[in-house]
Amino acid sequence: MRIYANEREGQIDFFEKFGIDYINNPVLIDNTDGVWNGNILEFKLNLSNINKTLFQAIKYLSKMRIKGESVPSNIILVGLNAATAYIFESKDYFNDIHTIYYGAASRNNESFIARTEPRKILFDTQIGAFQLRTKLKECNYMPIEIDENCIVGWAERYYREYSKATKGDFLGDDVTASKTIGEIREPRLFKGLIIPYKKKSNEKFKYLMDKLNDHMHKKDLGAFYTPIGYCQKAKELVDMAIQRVPEGYDYIILDRCAGTGNLEAVLSDEQLSHCILSTYEYYEYKVLCERLGDKVRTIIPPVEMEDTYDRGFVRSADALSKEFIYNPIIKSYIDNPCCTVILLENPPYRDDTSGMTGIKSKDKKVKSFVLEQMKANGVKKTNELANRFIWSGFNYYLRQKTDSYIVFCPIKYWKIDHLIDKQFIKGFLFNKKYFHAAPSAISCILWSNENAKLTTISLDAYDMVDDVAVYNKKMVAHRVQNEITKIFDQVTKDYLTIPYVCNTNGYTIMDKDGSFFDDEILGYFVGRGFGISNPNLNFNLLRLKFSDSHGFYLTADNYYNKLPILAIKHYLMFCRNWTENEFICCSADKGMAYAEDESFLQSCFIFACLDYYNKCLSMELSTSGHKRIVKNQLCFDGTTIANSKLCTLALNDDEQFLIGRFTKTLAEAKKVPEYNPAFSYGTYQIQNELNTFVYDDRGHKVYMHEELNTAIETLREKTYEYFDKYIKDKLLKYQLIK
Ligand SMILES: C[S@@+](CC[C@H](N)C(=O)[O-])C[C@H]1O[C@@H](n2cnc3c(N)ncnc32)[C@H](O)[C@@H]1O
Repeated sequence: MRIYANEREGQIDFFEKFGIDYINNPVLIDNTDGVWNGNILEFKLNLSNINKTLFQAIKYLSKMRIKGESVPSNIILVGLNAATAYIFESKDYFNDIHTIYYGAASRNNESFIARTEPRKILFDTQIGAFQLRTKLKECNYMPIEIDENCIVGWAERYYREYSKATKGDFLGDDVTASKTIGEIREPRLFKGLIIPYKKKSNEKFKYLMDKLNDHMHKKDLGAFYTPIGYCQKAKELVDMAIQRVPEGYDYIILDRCAGTGNLEAVLSDEQLSHCILSTYEYYEYKVLCERLGDKVRTIIPPVEMEDTYDRGFVRSADALSKEFIYNPIIKSYIDNPCCTVILLENPPYRDDTSGMTGIKSKDKKVKSFVLEQMKANGVKKTNELANRFIWSGFNYYLRQKTDSYIVFCPIKYWKIDHLIDKQFIKGFLFNKKYFHAAPSAISCILWSNENAKLTTISLDAYDMVDDVAVYNKKMVAHRVQNEITKIFDQVTKDYLTIPYVCNTNGYTIMDKDGSFFDDEILGYFVGRGFGISNPNLNFNLLRLKFSDSHGFYLTADNYYNKLPILAIKHYLMFCRNWTENEFICCSADKGMAYAEDESFLQSCFIFACLDYYNKCLSMELSTSGHKRIVKNQLCFDGTTIANSKLCTLALNDDEQFLIGRFTKTLAEAKKVPEYNPAFSYGTYQIQNELNTFVYDDRGHKVYMHEELNTAIETLREKTYEYFDKYIKDKLLKYQLIK
């Protein structure tokens, strides 16, 4: 019998012995020791506690169910040194597999006791090896129960494996007009893997409807649902809005994009009796009707007709369509002068540049009516779907000064887009992390329908602990008047004939032989918008012109004053606090005032020439039939313009230290065979071209030049510390960040 020194060695030997090709098949998945056909394997050198090891395997199966992976029907525990295998059946641990576990699967397993006797196989005998091999060939799975813990995992798998599938194909029930019986109720792809879901409606999944959307729906609906803690905060604003209703008036609370009704579910019965709700997505509409239908004033449409179901949408419920805007039920309240209107909405947010929304016969999408109206009224910022809701909310529904709008939306619509100039009453800032999205700030504001030109508004930021909103801090939003592009240089000389064009990663996408390259050009700065989202795409310092021309050239005359723009990008990219993300942005409200501050310019220059996100490269280009090298001039390698400038500056200790770190990095880079001595290298090019790596069999990066990688990581860390110490606060002082 072979005695193994470690588990890994024994595991590999086992795989080889039993013909388990773990290299070409997904065997080592989800941190397990291996899944092969309908078997999950757990290896130990010595199986000193079978109960404990069994529980560890059960926890892996529990995780697999949640992720939408087929749950193997056999659990095989292998004691490598004794060549013993203990085989359990997953179905005997059905409830344990349907429990949710937190923390590492290998921890806190001591108290578990197996409920069944395993089958024991000694696999160092011929008969034992035969029996185990036969077992390993079995492809049986334990059908699992679909519940709110695992349905998202199975939906994602469904849409992945069946890319044309719709939400109805997955969720459909026999009570809907579509009469599509969904996969969860009548499994076809997942036959034998899931137990048919028996409940008539999908009400149980009300907080997950966004996560269950198919790819098309996800794109079209821009849906992120409000968690209960934040719904309760929004209710405080609803209470305030109701207090504004004049004596003797009726009021309605209108939500045109109510989804499954999360915002309303926390309202009192009295408040609910004033609600008019609607939503566009069909399966949400069904849940909305079941959840709140008998409590609210009405849902639009009030009852389901033969033609209500329209390929996953609710006919006539597109809130941005003309039909909906002039809906007679809503209109009857709007036209009533003794009725106050309170809008309560968390509208979809997504960029809809095409302007197409909604459905029309023969799969043709219709141009949004609201969009056309906004354009006709000279509104510029129309791409964002939420802007269309907010604009139409004020324009078609609110008429009196005592009308209110409580709206969830990233603050951009007020701060940058200047979509509305209304009276602010009270507002919160919430963390989008709890809306099934990345951590960032979303405002929830109670606006009064009175005109007001405000320059700042103050919002209370709330995080969330155990589903309860918890106060974090006060955040002041300052309106931005001038786009950052105001400090961009105008193109004074016509370089535009140069046919070299590069991508946002700095590499050429067009390099026409025989073309001309002007040595005066040191780089090209691209900047679009206010950089509130995706600064790495929207702001770039490149060696060549970018393919679209929202930018300007850097030359020896202007580069020193313009490099602070790279520091702005850094601030926007690395504001890790959710309260700042999608809340702060760049501005040119103080123009070039920063350029008077010599020490700020020096800091930004040193930072920019060391920063990884300075994407200037050295490269070989063809010019008039000759190959020539265009060097990166904004780095500290060799004879560059940046190095000449550096010699003229008096450096403090931190700066000398940083330059020392770069020199060390460069020394390591020069040891790499691919280093080209004709080039000058900045951090970005060293990282991309010289700091090479491979992936190990677990998918982790293994760097080929450890010292170089270490030097780069240290340089990056120290550059960021330098930014924090010398640059960060001044970006705010000069209102480059606002
Ligand atoms: C951000 S979610 C908010 C849902 C719900 N009010 C909540 O807070 O949990 C936006 C909702 O708008 C719906 N929606 C998207 N486009 C719509 C449209 N054109 N008309 C009506 N509803 C729409 C989505 O299906 C989604 O339910």
